[in-house]
Amino acid sequence: MNRLPELSHHVFDRVAEAYDAARPEYPEALYLALEELSGIRLDGARVLDVGAGTGISTRGLLDRGARAVAVDRGGRMLSLLRARTACHAMLADGNTLPFRDGVADLVTYAQAWHWLDPALSIAEAVRVTGPGGAVAGWWNSVDAGKADWLAAYQVRLAESCAGYIGPALPGWSMPPIAGAMGDAGLHVEETWISWTRGVRLDDFLTDLRSYSYVAALDPESVEELVTRERAELRKVFADGRLTVPMRVYLAVGRKGAAEGDGEGGRP
Ligand SMILES: C[S@@+](CC[C@H](N)C(=O)[O-])C[C@H]1O[C@@H](n2cnc3c(N)ncnc32)[C@H](O)[C@@H]1O
Repeated sequence: MNRLPELSHHVFDRVAEAYDAARPEYPEALYLALEELSGIRLDGARVLDVGAGTGISTRGLLDRGARAVAVDRGGRMLSLLRARTACHAMLADGNTLPFRDGVADLVTYAQAWHWLDPALSIAEAVRVTGPGGAVAGWWNSVDAGKADWLAAYQVRLAESCAGYIGPALPGWSMPPIAGAMGDAGLHVEETWISWTRGVRLDDFLTDLRSYSYVAALDPESVEELVTRERAELRKVFADGRLTVPMRVYLAVGRKGAAEGDGEGGRP
């Protein structure tokens, strides 16, 4: 199976409908942890959601009262967000944000920071957040250690997709956002949130199509993969309803309460 060397927003734009239809939302506990670690109440907070995609994270923030602005480089992803999300949405590069210094309380990267430049993106996030502001990145992932079928599924994906990223890779870990935040002088805290996803097999397979390493395959290989996985997963979930152990990794970097105060400026 071939992997096409493409920019991530081009890859995501090709699978925007599948992404929008079947990617899971984030659990309530994620948003509570975000508030706790950032020291910022989402209700009323000015949030820039960078790499907003079709709006899964943006709507989660808006639903909790945040005044969120969505930023993404993918025009198709953003058009789906605009179709059903009442917020400002900007087609822009998260490495060079088109916002004034200090306009935000919080910059978020949900499932997105690993596509940006590690240093430029965080420097931009620090610039556009005011004193006492924060930067947060999080990733939903399957918790493959909790179910044999899920571990085997990940191994099959790794074998079939040259660009596979995930728990079946030796030494795999979450993107190093905590280190990048620390390098930028932020006070960093991390946490993990476990949750369980109930999902129909058809939706799980639609979701599979939206992963960058599947989207980068040629169309024939994608169909082969999905057909094979339908058969494999049916062996485990004969009724077509999957129970998937999940976990979210969250890292939050806080600025100080005063300009230039990198450590511990919030209560
Ligand atoms: C995996 S999606 C995450 C979408 C959404 N935040 C969510 O929680 O589902 C990653 C998004 O990052 C966007 N992206 C990639 N590089 C970017 C960049 N340099 N600036 C802004 N967005 C970018 C892609 O277009 C894609 O929509």
